[in-house]
Amino acid sequence: MESTYTLGDVQALDARRHLNTFGSRLPILAVAGEGSCLIDENGRRYLDLIGGIAVNVLGHGNAALSAALADQAGRLIHCSNLVYNPWQTVLAERLCEATGMDRVFFANSGAEANEGALKLARGYHVEQGRPRARVLSATDSFHGRTLATVTATGQPKYNRKFAPLPPGFSYLPFGDEEALTQAMDDDVACLILELIQGESGIHPLSREYVALARRLCDKTGALLVIDEIQSGMGRTGCFTACQLYDVRPDIMTLAKGLGGGVPIGALLASEEAARGFVPGDHGSTFGGNPLACRAALTVLDEYERLGLTARAGEAGKRFRAALAPAVSDEGPLVEIRGAGLMLGLELATATTAGGAAAVRNRLLAEDGILINSIGQTTLRLLPPLVITDEEIDFASRAIVEALQK
Ligand SMILES: Cc1ncc(COP(=O)(O)O)c(C=O)c1O
Repeated sequence: MESTYTLGDVQALDARRHLNTFGSRLPILAVAGEGSCLIDENGRRYLDLIGGIAVNVLGHGNAALSAALADQAGRLIHCSNLVYNPWQTVLAERLCEATGMDRVFFANSGAEANEGALKLARGYHVEQGRPRARVLSATDSFHGRTLATVTATGQPKYNRKFAPLPPGFSYLPFGDEEALTQAMDDDVACLILELIQGESGIHPLSREYVALARRLCDKTGALLVIDEIQSGMGRTGCFTACQLYDVRPDIMTLAKGLGGGVPIGALLASEEAARGFVPGDHGSTFGGNPLACRAALTVLDEYERLGLTARAGEAGKRFRAALAPAVSDEGPLVEIRGAGLMLGLELATATTAGGAAAVRNRLLAEDGILINSIGQTTLRLLPPLVITDEEIDFASRAIVEALQK
């Protein structure tokens, strides 16, 4: 069914009827998509460098995904977790093979996967006969919006309003090895980290820090939880950022791109950490339903057919090469961070009047490019992994020009 609403209609209704969580959005009424482009109600195409915030890994309108969803919708959309469904089990097997983890629980979002991870970590220590409550996370991290995950999120702007927050959470200054060494003791249930922080503006941890975190967890018995919700699904050029960093966590979480746009999250655990849950400890009505799992399996099939993980690495190199000439200490671009198609561009404060948001607005208005701005000085790129060389070249040229205006 085609929508007949105009942008103005929807904006007026939105202002009246939605909880005001998103404020005013970008002035685009998205009604369709094709490849890396979003299409509005007038047929205008926008090159989508946000990719649904790292969700539309296959781009928009992927034929295999649409066909699999239509086929599965005609057979079975949902059944309860009181019965078996084949796609859930096959997906668990495929994800364990792809990530090196042993067991999976399916949720519906990233926050839910992380919520399960925190419960599993505490549950593990209870099952070991020595309960531990402390959860350590990094400053500037982002782990979700449920009460526990927003508390693990090391950004007071997201959680302080909702006090009293669940107890037991503390924050480590991002990347500080000394602080990590001091904080890790045998009261710590788990340490939860993004290897490349996404929401804060694409900030990678060093390999040394991550190796130290693994060693200290081994020494103290704390579980290492790696949040791959943004960095996973091939985005960095490896299927998981853990593979890029050569670290095996005890617990890993995935979501975002896993369903190619269909909501699904996954909590993955080593055989040992999986002991933290016994029947009745955790569950989900929708988690792992046949439609979502069929979607995720099709996404994995498309990764294999199109070689998307390797492509993300190559595409990221092309972006970097095209943007590198604009990098200098004086600006307009002072740094390119990240890996593969998870890129942060740091702008020089002095050379970008209006900051990153002004550059974002210029790209949207003049070039039809959708890009994410974070704070005053960062642009974030999380495009579909199917972005073409031509699109990368066009976007890079437009970004450099927009920075120089
Ligand atoms: C690293 C990370 N963890 C967790 C989340 C929360 O995921 P969701 O919005 O699906 O709950 C996000 C979302 O941006 C994220 O980037």
